[in-house]
Amino acid sequence: MHTSEEIHPDQVGAEHTQAYRSLGPVTGSISHEAGVTVHGEAGNLSLWRLSPQVLRIACALQADSAQMVPTEALIPQQPQEDWEVTDYQSKLVVRTGAFHVALDKETLSVQIRQGSEQDYGEYSFSFSGSRLRCRGKLKEEAAIFGLGETTGYLNKRGDRYTMWNSDVLDPHVPDMESLYQSIPLLIHHSAEGSLGLFIDHPGRMTIDMRESNDYYDVETMNGEMDLYIIAGKDLRGVVTSYTGLTGRMQMPPLWSLGYQQSRFSYMNQEEVLDLARTFRAKQIPCDAIYLDIHYMDHYKVFSFDPVQFPDPQGMIEELKEMGLRIVPIVDPGVKMDEGYTIYEEGLAERHFCKFADGEAYIGNVWPGPSVFPDFTEKRTREWWGALHRFYVEHGISGIWNDMNEPSVFNSPTKTMDEEVVHGNNGQPRTHGDLHNIYGMLMCKATKEGLDTLLEGERSFVLTRAGYAGIQRYAAVWTGDNRSYWQHMEMFMAMGMNLGLSGVAFCGADVGGFMHHASGELLVRWTQLGAFTPFFRNHSAIETRQQEPWTFGEQVEEICRTFIELRYSLLPYLYSLFHEAAQTGLPVMRPLVLEYPQDERTFNLSDQFLLGNQMLVAPIYRPGAEHRSVYLPEGVWYDYWTGSRYEGGRPYLARAGLDRIPLFVKSGAVIPMTSGLQHTGEAVWSKLNVHIYGRGTEGHDGQVLAGEYMLYEDDGISRAYQTGEFSCLHISFEEADGVLEVNTSYNHTDEAVAGNERELLFTIHQLSFVPVRIVGLSEVPSLPHLEVQTAGWYYDRQGHHLSVKVPFRAGHEHGVKISVNG
Ligand code: GLC
Repeated sequence: MHTSEEIHPDQVGAEHTQAYRSLGPVTGSISHEAGVTVHGEAGNLSLWRLSPQVLRIACALQADSAQMVPTEALIPQQPQEDWEVTDYQSKLVVRTGAFHVALDKETLSVQIRQGSEQDYGEYSFSFSGSRLRCRGKLKEEAAIFGLGETTGYLNKRGDRYTMWNSDVLDPHVPDMESLYQSIPLLIHHSAEGSLGLFIDHPGRMTIDMRESNDYYDVETMNGEMDLYIIAGKDLRGVVTSYTGLTGRMQMPPLWSLGYQQSRFSYMNQEEVLDLARTFRAKQIPCDAIYLDIHYMDHYKVFSFDPVQFPDPQGMIEELKEMGLRIVPIVDPGVKMDEGYTIYEEGLAERHFCKFADGEAYIGNVWPGPSVFPDFTEKRTREWWGALHRFYVEHGISGIWNDMNEPSVFNSPTKTMDEEVVHGNNGQPRTHGDLHNIYGMLMCKATKEGLDTLLEGERSFVLTRAGYAGIQRYAAVWTGDNRSYWQHMEMFMAMGMNLGLSGVAFCGADVGGFMHHASGELLVRWTQLGAFTPFFRNHSAIETRQQEPWTFGEQVEEICRTFIELRYSLLPYLYSLFHEAAQTGLPVMRPLVLEYPQDERTFNLSDQFLLGNQMLVAPIYRPGAEHRSVYLPEGVWYDYWTGSRYEGGRPYLARAGLDRIPLFVKSGAVIPMTSGLQHTGEAVWSKLNVHIYGRGTEGHDGQVLAGEYMLYEDDGISRAYQTGEFSCLHISFEEADGVLEVNTSYNHTDEAVAGNERELLFTIHQLSFVPVRIVGLSEVPSLPHLEVQTAGWYYDRQGHHLSVKVPFRAGHEHGVKISVNG
């Protein structure tokens, strides 16, 4: 516990006050095939253009910037070869593609433009000792997004962060400059446009937007900096280009989108099986149960405790029959224990991290003194990956990577010694230089190992630590939060910024990890979790249990309803995951992504969009049943009551404990299913497509159109990568007295979509009373429709039109519905 002594005048540490000087003046420049290098008196920088939108600027004090190798964050890029350098009196002007880079010969600072209109910033480099600083201009009106997993609000302007992966059990408060992940992506955004700045630097780095209103500073400690300027037209463009550089996730197995239950720890096999039976008996949908560190024999990774888990195979099979999977935790620390094969093998094959003199690095984690695989080495990753045969042979396809910052209990810095030298495939670097990428490389090893072993089945990896590009290997959960209302609120901005930073698949411990949840908190957090990409309830040892049934019937009932709603939304959600896998656009979106011109969305930290059609505004205060919700332009409907709202202003939304403020946009097409206890398969035989029309009031006679692309595949294999998936395009148009709904397959594979299915359209807010539907007959009630294969029914009070059409999947089987009033 710290006391006010911390701020005693004599204790206050001296800030780094040494003077900084520029790298210039220029001493020469060289154009090489793919780029340009400019040398200054104190440093040098190299430029490459990687695509029409992306410019790379590597800068170094001592090293040769032209030789700087991008880290594993980057998918290998091919630089473009069209360069033209013009030497003016005070400037060197480099033209490449649409970029125009003016480099000041005195200081080596650069100014980047495209045409005369698009300003992509000024970057001035300076140094002090081995600190290398890049100062960029902050436009007055710009908001800053990105930066991955950070505390604070959506707009990062005014904050300061240190990129240094850290295991932080202390409460995550705004003072925490570092958490478990480091994603050095800053997105500048204003109504005029967006600009991304990605700094590929896995060593310690600070990003300071606090010191000044006019500029921000990025500073590395080792005299090197590798910048990527991403000139997106708008936010979408930046996120798409950034994920073009650092990659996108593969389609996760569908089961990993279901509800997941965890606890530190479910202590033994019987407890796990009882838990599973309770879920099924209580009919609370669930897809996975997590095994925390107690499943292991003395915390030895790749083992089961023979006493507490005597028959893991049997347990896993029994769970599988119930439609449940196991996700065990795997930490990087390998217990030093003679006779422990993994330790002995790793030692013999020199897989563990060591100092320059060859001495092993030893740190204490759960198993006591441990050694750590050097994941920077490809051969070590392959070794580690192959060890997962142990889990795969038990029927496991999902792994939870934790403690991979790496966290080290007995180290003064709480992590690996910075002097450790990583092999790095023949290019040795210190741990200090590579710290932030260590955890991601562990996930790479895990993911690639699982993918090889699973022979066509999809793997799932969850991680705590990560670096830019982590989305290629793992979903991210945000570490040891607490059962605080503030932490529930905090995840919204954190999740949205993770999404803008390429990590579409993320979530927080629902209910909170440390501290003790209350029933009300669990309800509200489960309501939020139902709409977050990753949805797992997890809690710490010695805290109050927080399974959905712990707090009595009312809490259980509400949690069940929201977990069921999550499962109903899977067809909609899965298509959003497909979109994220294709384009990098997040699942959980800040409003600014869809309404980039609307300044009122720039710091909207406590509500978000699921895709672009549903707006979620969780209640995150105890006792609260109301909250303010900002609805952006357009017409919105309350999901529960159908009440109509004109967007462009805030409203007071009411939500008793059993509701979450949830809005759907007029024009939305939301495919849903129902009645699942687990995800089963991803071709939903019963689909209810909800369409939100113009409503009976206030429309101006214009035509309303909406569409959605429903993506489907088998949900479990990698056959989708070779075309075994289907995309059903659903669109509608509503004008005065006429509604037309069309479905057609854009892509279909018989193996996926060749089955019979039931398709029910529910049209909410129809602007007219339907009289006739071509080729279909009206039935007297909804129950009649349920037992028939085709027909329609209109609920006059609720203004819902239900239409059932015979439907066989396959490209020749699109349907067309014409409704006349
Ligand atoms: C770390 C993880 C937490 C886990 C615990 C025990 O604190 O963040 O989720 O339960 O270790 O493995």
